Amino acid sequence: MSSENYPKEKSPAESHAEVIVRMFPSDANPAGNVFGGEILKHIDMVAGIVAQRHSQSNAVTVSMDSVNFLKPVFVGNVLTLNARINYVHNSSMEIEVKAEAEDIVTGIRTVTGTAFVTFVALDKNGKPTHAPKLSLKTDDDRIKFEEGRIRMDNRLKNRQK
Ligand SMILES: CC(C)(COP(=O)(O)OP(=O)(O)OC[C@H]1O[C@@H](n2cnc3c(N)ncnc32)[C@H](O)[C@@H]1OP(=O)(O)O)[C@@H](O)C(=O)NCCC(=O)NCCS
Repeated sequence: MSSENYPKEKSPAESHAEVIVRMFPSDANPAGNVFGGEILKHIDMVAGIVAQRHSQSNAVTVSMDSVNFLKPVFVGNVLTLNARINYVHNSSMEIEVKAEAEDIVTGIRTVTGTAFVTFVALDKNGKPTHAPKLSLKTDDDRIKFEEGRIRMDNRLKNRQK
């Protein structure tokens, strides 16, 4: 596996990303409920921003898990997706995404979805390459790193080859 000349360590705060999108009728079923797949697309997109910011390389989605749609999202809602990196192994990175829907008239914001997305950093030849290690600055960073390590071990035990 190659190791390019990028910073050896970066904190989770350095790659954190937030994306805000408005939900339109074309994103939803006839009753106005936004499709899960539409939300997944935005989850993948914001997680990809974090993975590429952290690795400063091309990075591709290798798995998505623990996807939960906790509450409905409706046409007209403003969806805010927050993403942070929890764990880095060699080339693989676990990104946690939280989606929050806002009713723009009432201002009420509800957590509507959560997911973990694993990305792999690729070099210029499309091969897995080392991502910078995580520099853990806060207690939250340390807790999330350890939880991420356990989830990654389980993911690899259960993965389809
Ligand atoms: C990502 C990809 C290059 C990895 O190839 P591979 O032959 O599995 O490579 P490796 O076995 O060396 O694994 C590379 C890393 O991916 C991790 N990985 C592979 N499958 C995984 C899975 N299902 N879940 C989590 N991590 C996984 C490995 O643990 C390894 O991590 P490490 O470098 O941190 O130790 C390859 O699976 C691929 O190209 N997938 C398609 C990606 C894509 O196009 N995504 C968009 C949606 S189609």
